Amino acid sequence: MATPTPETIATRNQELLQCWDNFANDFRHYEKIMQQSWRPLLSHMDLGSARSILEVGCGRGECAKAILGMAPSGCSVVTSDFSSEMIKAATAALEAHDALPNPGREGQLRIEQMSALDLHSVPTASIDRYIANMLLHLVPDLDGMLRETRRVLDAKTGIAGFTIWGDRAQSLVFSLRPGREDSPNFDAGRDLDALARRIHAAGFSKVRMWRQPCIFELWDPERVVEFWMHSEGKTIQDTEWLQEARKRTTRAICDEGKPIGLEAVIILAMP
Ligand SMILES: C[S@@+](CC[C@H](N)C(=O)[O-])C[C@H]1O[C@@H](n2cnc3c(N)ncnc32)[C@H](O)[C@@H]1O
Repeated sequence: MATPTPETIATRNQELLQCWDNFANDFRHYEKIMQQSWRPLLSHMDLGSARSILEVGCGRGECAKAILGMAPSGCSVVTSDFSSEMIKAATAALEAHDALPNPGREGQLRIEQMSALDLHSVPTASIDRYIANMLLHLVPDLDGMLRETRRVLDAKTGIAGFTIWGDRAQSLVFSLRPGREDSPNFDAGRDLDALARRIHAAGFSKVRMWRQPCIFELWDPERVVEFWMHSEGKTIQDTEWLQEARKRTTRAICDEGKPIGLEAVIILAMP
């Protein structure tokens, strides 16, 4: 695997930032899938004994709400994303949840705009729980993100939790979508032994991984087609695309009885 140059990483990161800014509003349609990976991830992170928690790539803030519900009092929680539009959406969600400090009230949660590849405001060895749901497979420098995670983690108490896309054959909500059959988002999870070696190389001594189905739809092919239409910006004028989408979802759900969802890989790592 070729190591990306700093210039390639910076350019790609900028392109991705633009995509996520544009996608922040529509990302709400993905919450149903996202919560099926962050729920089991959080449940294995022993958040009740944490003193400082950092979430990166927080999206619209739903996982941050759950983290707050599990963090003990006195534990500092920072949630972050590199997209200003995601930060806006997360801020609105967390304000509605009364989770952010305001002039009359101290709070335990702070929200910050920063990249997982450069956690500039986070001191070295200051974090004991690090959470990145559905991000590691997306960044242009996976090894750099792992090294930055390790840098901020406390060597004695630190636990990092990541989730990524798993096997494409078990991830029909993405791999059946016409025109998107083989996304590069599946690359990081294709060889989990190789991924474990990369996590070790970034300075972690213990790694655990398991596969977690995240179900989007069991019964109704049309709901999947509507979800794809939103994601792809398609309309009813896109007749050929729609016909193919309906054919694929009907075959998978009605003929083959397959759940339509995403297989996540949940990863825990300790220094
Ligand atoms: C698939 S979404 C997951 C969002 C959230 N973790 C959830 O579970 O709902 C990926 C998120 O990571 C953010 N992101 C992508 N690349 C990033 C980077 N290099 N640093 C920080 N955030 C990033 C995106 O803006 C987006 O909010």
